[in-house]
Amino acid sequence: MNTTPTLQVENLVKTYGGVQAVRGVSFDVMPQTIVGLIGPNGAGKTTTFNMIAGAETPTEGRVWFDGTEITGKPTDQLYDRGIVRTFQLSHEYGKMTALENLMVAGANQPGENIFMNWIAPGAVRRRERDVHERAEDTLAFLGLTHVTNELAGNLSGGQKKLLELGRTMMTDAKLVLLDEPGAGVNPTLMLKVIDMIRRLNEERGYTFCIIEHDMDLIADLCDTVVVLAEGQVLTRGPMSDVRTDERVIDAYFGGDVV
Ligand SMILES: Nc1ncnc2c1ncn2[C@@H]1O[C@H](COP(=O)(O)OP(=O)(O)OP(=O)(O)O)[C@@H](O)[C@H]1O
Ligand SMILES: [Mg+2]
Repeated sequence: MNTTPTLQVENLVKTYGGVQAVRGVSFDVMPQTIVGLIGPNGAGKTTTFNMIAGAETPTEGRVWFDGTEITGKPTDQLYDRGIVRTFQLSHEYGKMTALENLMVAGANQPGENIFMNWIAPGAVRRRERDVHERAEDTLAFLGLTHVTNELAGNLSGGQKKLLELGRTMMTDAKLVLLDEPGAGVNPTLMLKVIDMIRRLNEERGYTFCIIEHDMDLIADLCDTVVVLAEGQVLTRGPMSDVRTDERVIDAYFGGDVV
């Protein structure tokens, strides 16, 4: 059994001027598991993702991916290594269609390589056809076929969220960081999203770390849950333990944390 964590976060700290957004967060994500990152608004979840995915440089602390240190590496390098993330507020290419947004995400398209085009034009065409087909299949799966040629900027909030998820399906990711994949998605589609995450995990071996306020999604999918509050890890464990933990209930509903 592979015992090297896919993701290792050690003592991450992020301060913005006087604000301590993250105050020494450590956790591991083992290969092919699904870990939930939960906690009240402002707990530091998105900031933690930003530091893992190269969008923010940690003030302190280190990050490893598959045993290699990646602290402070830029997002595009991490993407090439197989780390993909989605955003709490969707980041689509507004001036491109839904289909084009997915095709762009089909990683390592040899069509972009001029030498491949010259040496093996047939292979390039086949690959492009594959990416096109996969993008169409992905749109169908997400119930977005009717907006295939719509500019992504014109989609609704929920549709943009689904498109973001679709982009992760188009890549050959190893580690997928999802920031509130369920936000704004209707309950029926939510079940499909849960199913999709599970299938990507079981069939393609993706490892997931998921930030989510929907506790049903977390309980349904996650092997382990890490609870953040006020920039620190409050506790971690299976959801069945975490959801009855007094400190967690208190962090969500008690005091002035919420
Ligand atoms: N760029 C920034 N500049 C200043 N403060 C920031 C910045 N980004 C985040 N913060 C602060 O850091 C804290 C943690 O924010 P973060 O977005 O990580 O929370 P979160 O756990 O993702 O919350 P939510 O569940 O509401 O999305 C908040 O107090 C926030 O105001
Ligand atoms: Mg957030």
